[in-house]
Amino acid sequence: MNILFIGDIFGSAGRKIVREHIGHLRTAHNVELIVINAENAAGGFGITPSLAEELFDLGANVLTTGNHIWDKRELIDYISAPPADSQERGRRVLRPVNLQPGVPGYGVYEGTTGSGVDYAVIDLQGCVFMNTTNDPFHAVSALLPGIRAKVIVVDMHAEATSEKVAMGWHLDGKVTAVLGTHTHIPTADERILPGGTAYQTDVGMSGPYDSVIGVEKELVLHKFLTGMPGKFEAAMGNPKMCATLVACDPKTGRATHIQRIMLGE
Ligand SMILES: [Fe+2]
Repeated sequence: MNILFIGDIFGSAGRKIVREHIGHLRTAHNVELIVINAENAAGGFGITPSLAEELFDLGANVLTTGNHIWDKRELIDYISAPPADSQERGRRVLRPVNLQPGVPGYGVYEGTTGSGVDYAVIDLQGCVFMNTTNDPFHAVSALLPGIRAKVIVVDMHAEATSEKVAMGWHLDGKVTAVLGTHTHIPTADERILPGGTAYQTDVGMSGPYDSVIGVEKELVLHKFLTGMPGKFEAAMGNPKMCATLVACDPKTGRATHIQRIMLGE
């Protein structure tokens, strides 16, 4: 069973490059499950319900997010209206599991692929250098016993490489894949850990690479050079799609192969 995980879509350049490549990748690799981190899809800040619909129309099964989850107010109703056991699209947009208790939305989704394989997607957010109050390690450990699917994909949305690597080891043998997002820079450390978990520290951004992690480079440079605040805008130049392909045994959930992908126009 092949799983395609697409790294953080940033702005319209990211949406366009994903639109260009998602179809042929799905066909060429016979992909059964597509997970996309989409928290920067709306001009770099959050995601709207209509952009989520656009990504589901392209074939996404589940959308994950992170620290930008609350940037677009209209998303709150969209993700919190469906009941927990619903399969509707709003239910398949996840916010991190380990946010403050009682916040809207869901951090895990359990579904079934077209060929009948049960799967789960878990959205976690790191604590190191991030404004997260509940640690992701205990949060995911508390969650796993309640999940019946063998195929489990974890988005570890975090800043620190150490925290992401640690999560890979924490979940080795317990989930199919631990894939990092948030830093927008793809890392070359994709591997299968000894227990059968596919791991990569960061899948990388799907967005404009002539930028500073998606933002117009002049605006970020101005901030670094002057220390003055400024409005950040999404860049457009040199779009690339970063994704990671994971193959696994659907019966055991163990990963058998992991492959990094970076495609330009
Ligand atoms: Fe993020």
